[in-house]
Amino acid sequence: MEVVIVAGPVEVGAFAAGRIAEIVAAKPEAVLGVATGSSPLETYRALAARRDAGLDLSRVSAFALDEYVGIAHDHPESYHAVVDREVVQPLGLDAARVRVPNGLAADLDAAADDYEAQIAAAGGVDVQLLGIGGNGHIGFNEPTSSLASRTRVKTLAPATREANARFFDSLDQVPMHCLTQGLGTILDAKRALLVAQGASKAHAIAQIVEGPVSSMWPGSVLQLHRHATIVIDEAAASELT
Ligand code: F6R
Repeated sequence: MEVVIVAGPVEVGAFAAGRIAEIVAAKPEAVLGVATGSSPLETYRALAARRDAGLDLSRVSAFALDEYVGIAHDHPESYHAVVDREVVQPLGLDAARVRVPNGLAADLDAAADDYEAQIAAAGGVDVQLLGIGGNGHIGFNEPTSSLASRTRVKTLAPATREANARFFDSLDQVPMHCLTQGLGTILDAKRALLVAQGASKAHAIAQIVEGPVSSMWPGSVLQLHRHATIVIDEAAASELT
């Protein structure tokens, strides 16, 4: 596991965008794994600036990590909408090459299997961008998730619903369930790039970097990945020994 510590959130985004840009420059039809939430926003901003400077992202494909169950795709906080607003539009991706799990499917288990099949058909993910929850989740693989898990329905932890309530009018509007890539799915990506900023992530970062591999800190599974990079600012690094 490679750990890169930079000064602040803007530098985290700049570094991560640089890594992704290198991969796309070498393979213009690269498959990106994209995360939602606040952590990757600086990375997307920095990638948009690189696009303005000539980086062509129009041939990449993208797979989102997760989606809420039961939320309309045109709800502004559905990950369908977030990925379109924060990723597809500013980066100039081809929307036809972008996939988000279908949390509205009548058969969610079938939708999960279909998502795995779509990732495989695309040749797998070249670089998976990740954030991390304060409880150590990656994707929405909450503590106790199987380290070998595949895309499936998960119940959001109370702490995750509380953290994400900031995107909704009230806590009770935050969905209870999600469809998320599993930890095994994430491990299959050729490269993993986790970004974290701020002191609120410092404990989780210390656990996943220096603690044992454990389903209680799901991000620790990245210790098993051959090409995992953790890009953090000084505040998020503050509990590392
Ligand atoms: C979102 C996702 C989550 C978030 C995590 C951190 O697609 O998979 O793991 O990355 O909850 O969220 P923020 O960045 O909002 O603190």
